[in-house]
Amino acid sequence: MRPVPPTIAPGSLAVRPQPTIAGPGGLVLRPWEAGDAPVFFAAYQDPAIQHWHGRHPESEAQVREWFEQYRQGWQQERGASWAVTHENGEVLGRTALGRFDLREGSAVCAYWVLPAARGTGVAPRALIAVSAWALGEAGFHRLHLSHSTRNNASCRVAVKAGFQLEGTKRSDAVHSDGRHDMHLHARIRGDA
Ligand SMILES: CC(C)(COP(=O)(O)OP(=O)(O)OC[C@H]1O[C@@H](n2cnc3c(N)ncnc32)[C@H](O)[C@@H]1OP(=O)(O)O)[C@@H](O)C(=O)NCCC(=O)NCCS
Repeated sequence: MRPVPPTIAPGSLAVRPQPTIAGPGGLVLRPWEAGDAPVFFAAYQDPAIQHWHGRHPESEAQVREWFEQYRQGWQQERGASWAVTHENGEVLGRTALGRFDLREGSAVCAYWVLPAARGTGVAPRALIAVSAWALGEAGFHRLHLSHSTRNNASCRVAVKAGFQLEGTKRSDAVHSDGRHDMHLHARIRGDA
């Protein structure tokens, strides 16, 4: 039997720099820059982001190390993280794709939005933009995400961005208040 070719040819992403992506309503998704370290660090002082995201930077210096890891992640075709910005340049949040599997053509999505920018559809619009790039130009076939069944706002983001609910992973994640069941959502190429 002939080997099945990978969905995405290794090397075909990193041959170009991580893209800047235009999103609905004037959003611009761009790679993180060293000057974003203070706003990124401030985001992780928010109790909701602390609660729902497992890893926290301990200093702006560590944030800059994370930015370097993001840069290397793109070069090694492992993942990508974008600053979600208003068209005036203000940072509003973060959207990321991780765990690139080029053979299967899959990746996992993550997001947060700064408290002052919540409730105006920033996260779903950013997720729609990154999905259009990933399932289009980049050649992924399936994007998935997980959130606690107690995180209703994140569930709304997933549904509004076209990520169908596929099921509940029981007791799948540990947060500061114990174990949580997790919803699994996915969007595949061709979905509306
Ligand atoms: C979840 C999160 C990314 C949503 O981002 P957002 O840009 O505010 O998304 P939306 O504007 O589409 O709002 C989503 C839901 O949040 C709730 N919401 C609305 N206004 C809000 C506000 N001012 N503050 C908090 N939540 C609000 C509503 O339930 C809304 O759903 P609806 O539009 O059906 O009413 C954001 O609240 C966040 O960063 N939370 C903390 C970190 C987190 O949960 N990350 C996801 C981990 S899986």
